[in-house]
Amino acid sequence: MLLAYGDEGPGPVVVLLHGFPLNRRMWESQSTTLGSLYRIITPDLRGHGESATPLGPYPIDTMADDVIETLDALGITEPVVLGGLSMGGYVTLSLALRYPDRWRALMLVDTRAGADAPEAAHLREEMARKVEEAEDAEPVTSSMLGRLFSLATRNRRSEVIEEVYEQMQVITPRAVAAALRGMAARPDRTADLSRIALPTLVLVGSDDQITPPAEARRMAEALPAAQLVVIPDAGHMAPVENPAAVNHAMLEFLGSLP
Ligand code: MLT
Repeated sequence: MLLAYGDEGPGPVVVLLHGFPLNRRMWESQSTTLGSLYRIITPDLRGHGESATPLGPYPIDTMADDVIETLDALGITEPVVLGGLSMGGYVTLSLALRYPDRWRALMLVDTRAGADAPEAAHLREEMARKVEEAEDAEPVTSSMLGRLFSLATRNRRSEVIEEVYEQMQVITPRAVAAALRGMAARPDRTADLSRIALPTLVLVGSDDQITPPAEARRMAEALPAAQLVVIPDAGHMAPVENPAAVNHAMLEFLGSLP
């Protein structure tokens, strides 16, 4: 399926994939800042933002295939840099393993390689049913909101929280349920990490409660060519909570690529 996308700036292409239940607006600061040197393409994954919302579930590999179809339609077939946050990171790992020739480097932001534990998958199914029955995404968006941010953001940056909450308002209950079921069924990619030889930047907020720094460190250690940067004063939404530090880390990494 062809996706809606943002397309900012000149130069080498960098594709950034948003998290759940967000959309490409979460990359606004990166599109502006990195967009002075790079062409930043920010797809809305199926069911999110301005992309269409087909019937679910949305397996991670299907979301990944949409990205390939969209890049093909844009005529981008040379290897590019690919990054993703959380669910966007699951899609990034699927793309890295299934289309290895399409990428120059990876950026894995506040994400993990592991699958859901059975209880977590069960909880997702319960949430999916709840939003379907209520015909309202609110039970999921409001329960996620509390866990997305660092203490620093919660204490001092209420405007960031409001912006993210507003961004979640466009998602439909159908898309929430479909993405939850897709994430619950995703495979464990931990054992595959050793096969990903691409230069990889692993970023994580110092106060990320959903995909904590210890998990990011394990992922970076299992990847043959990864470096880990911990972003201070940030939780799971590091790119919007501390955009200056994330942009700096990304620019250094991108500048170091051959
Ligand atoms: C996300 O930020 O994309 C979600 O937290 C991912 C997840 O629920 O596993």
